[in-house]
Amino acid sequence: MKIVFASGNEGKVKEIREMLAGMGVELVSLKNYSGVPEIIEDGKTFLENALKKARKIAEFTGETVLADDSGLSVDELGGEPGIYSARYAGEKATDDDNIDLLLSRLKNIPLEKRTAFFCCALVLYRVDGSYDSFESKWNGRIIDDRRGDNGFGYDPIFYVPQLKKTAAEMQPELKNRVSHRGQAFAQLKKALEEKLKN
Ligand code: IMP
Repeated sequence: MKIVFASGNEGKVKEIREMLAGMGVELVSLKNYSGVPEIIEDGKTFLENALKKARKIAEFTGETVLADDSGLSVDELGGEPGIYSARYAGEKATDDDNIDLLLSRLKNIPLEKRTAFFCCALVLYRVDGSYDSFESKWNGRIIDDRRGDNGFGYDPIFYVPQLKKTAAEMQPELKNRVSHRGQAFAQLKKALEEKLKN
Protein backbone atom coordinates (compact mmCIF):
# COMPACT_ATOMS: atom_id res chain seq x y z
CA MET A 1 0.00 0.00 0.00
CA LYS A 2 1.48 3.31 -1.13
CA ILE A 3 0.89 6.40 1.02
CA VAL A 4 2.28 9.86 0.32
CA PHE A 5 3.12 11.83 3.47
CA ALA A 6 2.11 15.49 3.07
CA SER A 7 5.44 16.91 4.24
CA GLY A 8 8.94 17.18 2.87
CA ASN A 9 10.40 17.04 6.38
CA GLU A 10 12.69 14.00 6.09
CA GLY A 11 13.05 13.71 9.88
CA LYS A 12 9.31 13.32 10.29
CA VAL A 13 9.04 10.92 7.33
CA LYS A 14 11.77 8.75 8.84
CA GLU A 15 10.05 8.71 12.25
CA ILE A 16 6.70 7.79 10.71
CA ARG A 17 8.25 5.10 8.51
CA GLU A 18 9.60 3.54 11.73
CA MET A 19 6.18 3.73 13.39
CA LEU A 20 4.54 1.98 10.42
CA ALA A 21 7.35 -0.56 9.90
CA GLY A 22 6.31 -4.12 9.05
CA MET A 23 2.84 -3.14 7.83
CA GLY A 24 3.50 -3.34 4.10
CA VAL A 25 3.10 0.43 3.77
CA GLU A 26 5.40 2.29 1.35
CA LEU A 27 5.56 5.83 2.78
CA VAL A 28 6.64 8.35 0.14
CA SER A 29 7.97 11.81 1.02
CA LEU A 30 6.70 14.91 -0.78
CA LYS A 31 10.39 15.53 -1.57
CA ASN A 32 9.88 13.07 -4.47
CA TYR A 33 7.50 15.47 -6.21
CA SER A 34 8.21 18.76 -7.93
CA GLY A 35 5.82 21.67 -8.31
CA VAL A 36 4.03 20.86 -5.05
CA PRO A 37 1.35 23.54 -4.48
CA GLU A 38 1.82 25.83 -1.47
CA ILE A 39 -0.79 25.13 1.18
CA ILE A 40 -1.92 27.92 3.47
CA GLU A 41 -2.71 26.48 6.89
CA ASP A 42 -5.69 28.70 7.61
CA GLY A 43 -7.94 26.21 9.39
CA LYS A 44 -9.28 26.92 12.87
CA THR A 45 -8.30 23.54 14.27
CA PHE A 46 -5.48 21.03 13.94
CA LEU A 47 -7.89 18.68 12.21
CA GLU A 48 -9.00 21.29 9.66
CA ASN A 49 -5.39 22.04 8.77
CA ALA A 50 -4.46 18.35 8.45
CA LEU A 51 -7.53 17.72 6.29
CA LYS A 52 -6.77 20.65 4.00
CA LYS A 53 -3.16 19.48 3.52
CA ALA A 54 -4.24 15.88 2.89
CA ARG A 55 -6.94 16.84 0.37
CA LYS A 56 -4.73 19.22 -1.62
CA ILE A 57 -1.85 16.75 -1.80
CA ALA A 58 -4.16 13.87 -2.78
CA GLU A 59 -5.55 16.02 -5.61
CA PHE A 60 -2.00 16.91 -6.66
CA THR A 61 -0.43 13.42 -6.48
CA GLY A 62 -3.44 11.22 -7.27
CA GLU A 63 -2.38 8.96 -4.37
CA THR A 64 -3.61 8.13 -0.87
CA VAL A 65 -2.17 10.80 1.42
CA LEU A 66 -1.37 11.02 5.13
CA ALA A 67 -1.18 14.51 6.66
CA ASP A 68 -0.65 15.66 10.22
CA ASP A 69 -0.90 18.83 12.24
CA SER A 70 0.07 19.33 15.85
CA GLY A 71 0.72 21.92 18.51
CA LEU A 72 0.49 23.00 22.12
CA SER A 73 -2.59 24.50 23.83
CA VAL A 74 -2.29 26.24 27.20
CA ASP A 75 -5.59 26.47 29.12
CA GLU A 76 -4.84 29.71 30.96
CA LEU A 77 -4.07 31.40 27.59
CA GLY A 78 -7.35 30.33 25.98
CA GLY A 79 -5.65 27.55 24.02
CA GLU A 80 -2.66 29.58 22.76
CA PRO A 81 -0.37 28.98 20.92
CA GLY A 82 -2.57 26.24 19.37
CA ILE A 83 -2.43 26.11 15.58
CA TYR A 84 0.17 28.91 15.69
CA SER A 85 2.61 26.81 17.78
CA ALA A 86 5.39 26.73 15.18
CA ARG A 87 5.19 30.48 14.43
CA TYR A 88 4.02 31.81 17.83
CA ALA A 89 6.81 34.41 18.09
CA GLY A 90 6.77 35.17 14.33
CA GLU A 91 7.22 33.47 10.95
CA LYS A 92 10.97 32.96 11.50
CA ALA A 93 10.75 32.18 15.23
CA THR A 94 13.05 29.53 16.70
CA ASP A 95 11.90 27.04 19.35
CA ASP A 96 13.68 29.21 21.94
CA ASP A 97 11.84 32.37 20.78
CA ASN A 98 8.50 30.57 21.04
CA ILE A 99 9.30 29.26 24.54
CA ASP A 100 10.43 32.70 25.71
CA LEU A 101 7.20 34.31 24.50
CA LEU A 102 5.04 31.61 26.08
CA LEU A 103 6.83 31.92 29.44
CA SER A 104 6.50 35.70 29.37
CA ARG A 105 2.73 35.35 28.88
CA LEU A 106 2.55 32.93 31.81
CA LYS A 107 4.52 35.14 34.19
CA ASN A 108 2.93 35.24 37.66
CA ILE A 109 0.59 32.33 36.86
CA PRO A 110 1.08 29.59 39.47
CA LEU A 111 2.08 26.09 38.41
CA GLU A 112 -1.28 24.53 39.28
CA LYS A 113 -2.96 26.79 36.74
CA ARG A 114 -0.46 26.09 33.97
CA THR A 115 -2.25 23.07 32.55
CA ALA A 116 -1.66 22.41 28.86
CA PHE A 117 -1.91 19.72 26.24
CA PHE A 118 -0.22 18.76 23.01
CA CYS A 119 -2.58 17.69 20.26
CA CYS A 120 -1.90 15.71 17.09
CA ALA A 121 -4.42 15.33 14.26
CA LEU A 122 -3.85 12.83 11.46
CA VAL A 123 -5.85 12.46 8.25
CA LEU A 124 -5.60 9.56 5.81
CA TYR A 125 -7.22 10.83 2.61
CA ARG A 126 -8.08 8.71 -0.43
CA VAL A 127 -8.45 10.00 -4.00
CA ASP A 128 -12.16 9.15 -4.00
CA GLY A 129 -12.59 11.86 -1.32
CA SER A 130 -13.15 9.49 1.61
CA TYR A 131 -10.92 9.87 4.65
CA ASP A 132 -10.23 8.67 8.19
CA SER A 133 -9.09 11.03 10.92
CA PHE A 134 -7.43 10.45 14.27
CA GLU A 135 -6.71 12.84 17.10
CA SER A 136 -4.89 12.49 20.38
CA LYS A 137 -4.00 14.75 23.29
CA TRP A 138 -1.19 14.64 25.84
CA ASN A 139 -1.70 16.48 29.12
CA GLY A 140 0.99 18.26 31.10
CA ARG A 141 2.02 21.53 32.74
CA ILE A 142 4.22 24.38 31.60
CA ILE A 143 7.21 24.96 33.86
CA ASP A 144 9.47 28.02 33.96
CA ASP A 145 12.86 26.35 33.65
CA ARG A 146 13.92 24.38 30.59
CA ARG A 147 14.76 20.76 31.41
CA GLY A 148 16.28 18.07 29.15
CA ASP A 149 17.95 17.96 25.74
CA ASN A 150 15.81 15.51 23.77
CA GLY A 151 12.92 16.28 21.47
CA PHE A 152 12.10 19.64 19.92
CA GLY A 153 9.71 22.58 20.13
CA TYR A 154 8.16 23.11 23.55
CA ASP A 155 9.44 19.78 24.98
CA PRO A 156 11.85 21.33 27.57
CA ILE A 157 9.02 23.19 29.37
CA PHE A 158 6.26 20.54 28.98
CA TYR A 159 6.25 18.69 32.30
CA VAL A 160 4.30 15.45 32.73
CA PRO A 161 3.56 15.00 36.48
CA GLN A 162 2.83 11.24 36.24
CA LEU A 163 6.28 10.61 34.75
CA LYS A 164 8.01 13.37 36.76
CA LYS A 165 9.81 14.46 33.59
CA THR A 166 9.58 17.05 30.87
CA ALA A 167 9.08 15.71 27.34
CA ALA A 168 12.72 16.70 26.64
CA GLU A 169 13.90 14.51 29.55
CA MET A 170 12.24 11.41 28.06
CA GLN A 171 14.02 8.90 25.85
CA PRO A 172 12.51 8.94 22.33
CA GLU A 173 11.04 5.44 22.80
CA LEU A 174 9.12 6.62 25.88
CA LYS A 175 7.96 9.88 24.30
CA ASN A 176 6.83 8.06 21.13
CA ARG A 177 4.79 5.65 23.22
CA VAL A 178 2.95 8.18 25.39
CA SER A 179 2.87 11.39 23.32
CA HIS A 180 0.00 12.92 21.33
CA ARG A 181 1.76 11.87 18.10
CA GLY A 182 2.55 8.36 19.33
CA GLN A 183 -1.06 7.81 20.42
CA ALA A 184 -2.55 9.22 17.20
CA PHE A 185 -0.26 6.94 15.18
CA ALA A 186 -1.25 3.97 17.32
CA GLN A 187 -4.88 4.66 16.30
CA LEU A 188 -3.92 5.00 12.63
CA LYS A 189 -1.90 1.78 12.78
CA LYS A 190 -4.81 -0.12 14.27
CA ALA A 191 -7.17 1.17 11.56
CA LEU A 192 -4.69 0.25 8.80
CA GLU A 193 -4.21 -3.22 10.25
CA GLU A 194 -8.00 -3.75 10.25
CA LYS A 195 -8.24 -2.56 6.62
CA LEU A 196 -5.30 -4.69 5.45
CA LYS A 197 -6.90 -7.77 7.10
CA ASN A 198 -10.13 -7.36 5.09
P1 IMP B 1 3.73 20.77 12.95
O1 IMP B 1 2.74 19.73 13.30
O2 IMP B 1 4.94 20.21 12.29
O3 IMP B 1 3.10 21.90 12.20
O4 IMP B 1 4.30 21.36 14.33
C1 IMP B 1 3.68 22.39 15.01
C2 IMP B 1 4.50 22.92 16.16
O5 IMP B 1 3.91 22.46 17.37
C3 IMP B 1 5.96 22.52 16.24
O6 IMP B 1 6.78 23.39 15.51
C4 IMP B 1 6.22 22.66 17.74
O7 IMP B 1 6.45 24.00 18.09
C5 IMP B 1 4.89 22.23 18.35
N1 IMP B 1 4.91 20.78 18.64
C6 IMP B 1 4.17 19.82 18.05
N2 IMP B 1 4.46 18.61 18.56
C7 IMP B 1 5.40 18.83 19.50
C8 IMP B 1 6.12 17.96 20.38
O8 IMP B 1 5.97 16.72 20.39
N3 IMP B 1 7.00 18.55 21.20
C9 IMP B 1 7.22 19.89 21.23
N4 IMP B 1 6.61 20.74 20.42
C10 IMP B 1 5.68 20.22 19.56
